[in-house]
Amino acid sequence: MIAFPLRTVFSILVAASLLVIVVWVSPPSPFSASSVSSSSVGRLDIWSIRRLVEWRPCKWWLEGHLTALPAETNGYIRVDCYGGLNQMRRDFCDGVGIARLLNATLVLPKFEVAAYWNESSGFADVFDVDYFIEKMNGFVKVVKELPADIASLEPFRVDCSKRKGQFDYVESVLPSLLEHHFISITPAMSQRRDRYPLHAKAALCQGCYSALRLTGALESKGFELLEAIPKPFLSLHLRFEPDMVAYSQCEYSGLSRHSMEAIDAARGDRKPWTGELARVWRNRGKCPLTPKETSFVLQALSIPTNTNIYLASGDGLMEIEGLTSVYTNVYTKSALLSGEDFTSMHGNTKAALDYYVSINSDSYVATYFGNMDKMVAAMRAVNGLYKTLFLSRRAFAQFTAEGLTGTELKKALWEAHQHDFSHGIGSALPDCFCEFNL
Ligand SMILES: *[C@@H]1O[C@H](CO)[C@@H](O)[C@H](O)[C@H]1NC(C)=O
Ligand SMILES: *[C@@H]1O[C@H](CO)[C@@H](O)[C@H](O)[C@H]1NC(C)=O
Repeated sequence: MIAFPLRTVFSILVAASLLVIVVWVSPPSPFSASSVSSSSVGRLDIWSIRRLVEWRPCKWWLEGHLTALPAETNGYIRVDCYGGLNQMRRDFCDGVGIARLLNATLVLPKFEVAAYWNESSGFADVFDVDYFIEKMNGFVKVVKELPADIASLEPFRVDCSKRKGQFDYVESVLPSLLEHHFISITPAMSQRRDRYPLHAKAALCQGCYSALRLTGALESKGFELLEAIPKPFLSLHLRFEPDMVAYSQCEYSGLSRHSMEAIDAARGDRKPWTGELARVWRNRGKCPLTPKETSFVLQALSIPTNTNIYLASGDGLMEIEGLTSVYTNVYTKSALLSGEDFTSMHGNTKAALDYYVSINSDSYVATYFGNMDKMVAAMRAVNGLYKTLFLSRRAFAQFTAEGLTGTELKKALWEAHQHDFSHGIGSALPDCFCEFNL
């Protein structure tokens, strides 16, 4: 492992004792970036706030598989996963729980891969297969190869992804499994697992947060990248690409003509909301923060402008000068890795690098609450890293709608986020994590 220059015990003690007294009674302006020295000792930023709650892996998961695996398998399940890396992983995690629930045997999942990338197995290219199988021992049966009698068959496809609301996998999927012996499933989105028996939930948790390790090749590339970033550093997952802005149906003013054109080109039929609807939409926190707004919120959280920031973002980020004109120590993988390395990478492996850096960074800030953010927050919690924060788009929209600006706006943003941070709100982790009062 890497020894991080984490904040010293001294600064934590000073910060904790001073902050409890000071921060709650006075505006944050004394600590705003401009008045903070460049020294890393005694910096009073959002991370210095005393936390009251944290989310930790639940006992029933860590204690392991209390229920013995069934002697007989009900059949073989392949999980078919689509979308970005972290969406595929989320669906796969669900599938692990479902396989256990159905007393089935898991075969390696199918990860959708971009057409230009002709790898046969997306999963084995990103995750360490042998490690996965070893770590799942006792939680669920996993095989690399199908038994000879079904090896030549295509699985019977059961697509649950469009199912809405509650439905029961035992009721709706088990009959197909028993009939066909080999099925492929794409799990339903947002299916609640609270009715799963604990052994099925434990399989999901183990599969998702303990058994998935990047391949050796990816991990060493990630390590190389991590080593190249000056420490300590904040990993920032900033989302402001044309397609996601278009998808949000939000209107922005003050963007460059270039950005506006890119957004318009990505809009298609999806026209932005206007008038009252736009206002309501924005106040519900539906609009992505621009890099400039992100930079403002970071300053409101007293994160010094000389902080080393790793930009855990895909290609096509717009308006990045809004951040880099204020936060001057911003690093990207394209700048830190050699050109040849970089051109040989595709979407999934780039996403895997951002993930790797983000679960190992000193702190992690997300401007969005997407699959990657949820996965990173969970893995950080598994590793005992709690400097994790989701910026509140809703707070930003509401305060600005109320007409707050400058120092007042910063003060309000500070209070909203320090409340979230100390109470573990926004980083609430589902299923495998239990609330722990500090
Ligand atoms: C799975 O096996 C257990 C016993 O090992 C049994 O109690 C349970 O009903 C089985 N579930 C299914 C869906 O077959
Ligand atoms: C795609 O597959 C072909 C044949 O296996 C191989 O020669 C080629 O190098 C592969 N392309 C990439 C980009 O990996």
